[in-house]
Amino acid sequence: MGLRHQVTGAAAPSAVSELPYAPEELTRGRLRRLGEGLGKVVYASEHWVVKRERSPSEIIALIVLWKVLRRVERHLPGQLGRRLLEKPSKTIRFVRLLMQAVVPAVPKSVWFATHIGQVWRTYHFRNLRGEKLAEAHLAGTTLIPERVIFPPVRVTVGGWPGWLIISEATERVEATLHQRLTELAKAGRFDELEHWLNRFLDLRQAGWQRGVFSVDAHLKNFGVSGDHVVLLDPGGLTNRWEDITERLAFENSVERPHTRLGLARVLASRPDIAARFDARWKATVNLDEVRRHFPD
Ligand SMILES: Nc1ncnc2c1ncn2[C@@H]1O[C@H](COP(=O)(O)OP(=O)(O)O)[C@@H](O)[C@H]1O
Ligand SMILES: [Mg+2]
Repeated sequence: MGLRHQVTGAAAPSAVSELPYAPEELTRGRLRRLGEGLGKVVYASEHWVVKRERSPSEIIALIVLWKVLRRVERHLPGQLGRRLLEKPSKTIRFVRLLMQAVVPAVPKSVWFATHIGQVWRTYHFRNLRGEKLAEAHLAGTTLIPERVIFPPVRVTVGGWPGWLIISEATERVEATLHQRLTELAKAGRFDELEHWLNRFLDLRQAGWQRGVFSVDAHLKNFGVSGDHVVLLDPGGLTNRWEDITERLAFENSVERPHTRLGLARVLASRPDIAARFDARWKATVNLDEVRRHFPD
């Protein structure tokens, strides 16, 4: 399988490096907004990224917006609704800002009693737990990007809020797995694409061998660095069998994993690759296999 040596060979002497001061490129100029998820906005210099944690009201506004869009999507013609969900346009940014102004007007206790509050709690809890697990099980390996810490420093960033105080940074990867696969498909480089899909499944198994399983394994949460895939977002990591079994029961009900990962279009012209990937996913992401990889 080639996995075990990847894992054992990956251990580095120390997990997080403590620097006397922040890498110079972080303070030299304005950092570019590179990506975002539900809970974080990510800014980058050439080799490093720093993350801004969104405030609870920002996250709640996003959850509300997302729910509304999901509802609206069904009534929009064709691909328009999907495009809205996948690519936040300027309109969405604007609506989101409006919502952010409204959210604090409703008492927190009200939000937290709703399904929205539940989504927030789940996200928040998973994020904290995932970070701890990554620190304990993956730090210092090639499974996650390198992380450095340093004394607090102020950096300027593009867009609101204009600046941040940071005391840690993460190695910037070349692209998210989602970006890399999309680019390779566009260029017709399907052999390489299939290679990356396999490395993705290899990485997941390498994680299981170290006692962690991601319940949030979508393609924007993984990145490519040199010749390997890394986990960018530890947010979905768990080591609890209850969570793992629940997730795997869901996986079991998914007929075409590549479609659920958003690869239907990317692989539209290559049903053979899609079929091989789905088969390998099914043979890998299941209870027996995860158990077999997990440490005792
Ligand atoms: N080390 C990194 N290098 C390059 N891009 C990154 C890195 N870490 C995160 N990103 C980008 O930022 C996005 C959001 O980061 P993530 O940690 O997934 O936050 P969230 O918890 O909000 O989902 C990712 O989907 C990815 O596009
Ligand atoms: Mg994420």
